[in-house]
Amino acid sequence: MADKVIVFGATGTIGKFLIASLIQNSKSFERLAIFARSSTIDSKPEYVQFLKDSGVEIITGDVRNEADVLKAYEGFNIVVSAVGRNVILDQIDLIRLAEKTPNIKRFFPSEFGTDIEFGPKSPNEKPHQLKLKVRGYIKNEVKRLEHTYLVTGPYAEFYIGKGFGDQKAGGFDVQAKKAVLCGTGDDKVALMTMPDVGDALVSAILHPEASKNRALIVNSFTTTPHEILAEYEKQTGSKWDVSYTLLDELVHLEEQAWNAEEPRATGFTLRRVWTEGGTLYDRPRDNEAIGFTTPDSLADAVATAIKVQS
Ligand SMILES: NC(=O)c1ccc[n+]([C@@H]2O[C@H](COP(=O)([O-])OP(=O)(O)OC[C@H]3O[C@@H](n4cnc5c(N)ncnc54)[C@H](OP(=O)(O)O)[C@@H]3O)[C@@H](O)[C@H]2O)c1
Repeated sequence: MADKVIVFGATGTIGKFLIASLIQNSKSFERLAIFARSSTIDSKPEYVQFLKDSGVEIITGDVRNEADVLKAYEGFNIVVSAVGRNVILDQIDLIRLAEKTPNIKRFFPSEFGTDIEFGPKSPNEKPHQLKLKVRGYIKNEVKRLEHTYLVTGPYAEFYIGKGFGDQKAGGFDVQAKKAVLCGTGDDKVALMTMPDVGDALVSAILHPEASKNRALIVNSFTTTPHEILAEYEKQTGSKWDVSYTLLDELVHLEEQAWNAEEPRATGFTLRRVWTEGGTLYDRPRDNEAIGFTTPDSLADAVATAIKVQS
């Protein structure tokens, strides 16, 4: 029996890529739906029309309203959550309700990022705390419902993009031909393009045994800041200005940002985790295990980034 998939957060940054890949593979699914706030539906008429034209059902409701969620769960067997950072904890109720809805078989919590159980330091990283609570709830309270954590590492579009507003945190400015590299420039990092995140989700759904009750480590490619720079220089046809934010300085900037309670503190922590090797594993990635065999390359990602900044 083909799966029936409902996606929460489908109009958000990564949600749009998830739903795009699901639509591309719609022949594999019996039903596709999004659950979104009515205010969101009203404010994005063109996108909503595109979804409807693509055969996606639109279900409106509030993630914090139990009746809305239970009604939405009727007739689906897979829930994908791509809710944003300020809604992460609300997933505990979404999971509790899914557990008591027999037709819901699998829940994909909103992960799509750094492995929050990577190593001994991971439980103390501030940006991980809410997602760790969600994993803790699943570990301790869920008996029947299956889960999959899609661990993608940083989105390539963000890591090799212009940066998040503080040039010291790293970035590649195509117009100015300037790069700020985190670390020595030779530290490896595994990245995933957002279209690949969507494709990996589809692969995980279509390989239910390989993806059952575990964190799936998926990515597009592993590279270094120097290799990214070399690719930019090749594709733009000239040398760039380069500077470095070494790990010690990144740690200092991170501490300052947290002490001042600045929202960008999360960005600094994640950059520090990635620079320390937090996207590299001592086991092979799970791309092949779920049949995700045609990821984007660094050259693809840089070409896209140049287009976005032009
Ligand atoms: N790997 C990376 O580099 C990276 C980067 C950024 C984010 N992430 C991760 O990706 C996941 C999704 O993040 P995102 O940035 O894509 O999310 P987002 O665009 O900020 O938001 C996604 C959805 O969350 C829902 N939402 C937001 N605020 C809400 C509220 N107050 N009440 C109810 N719903 C609300 C919205 O649903 P409606 O459609 O109903 O409006 C929205 O579409 C997160 O787990 C995040 O940590 C990873």
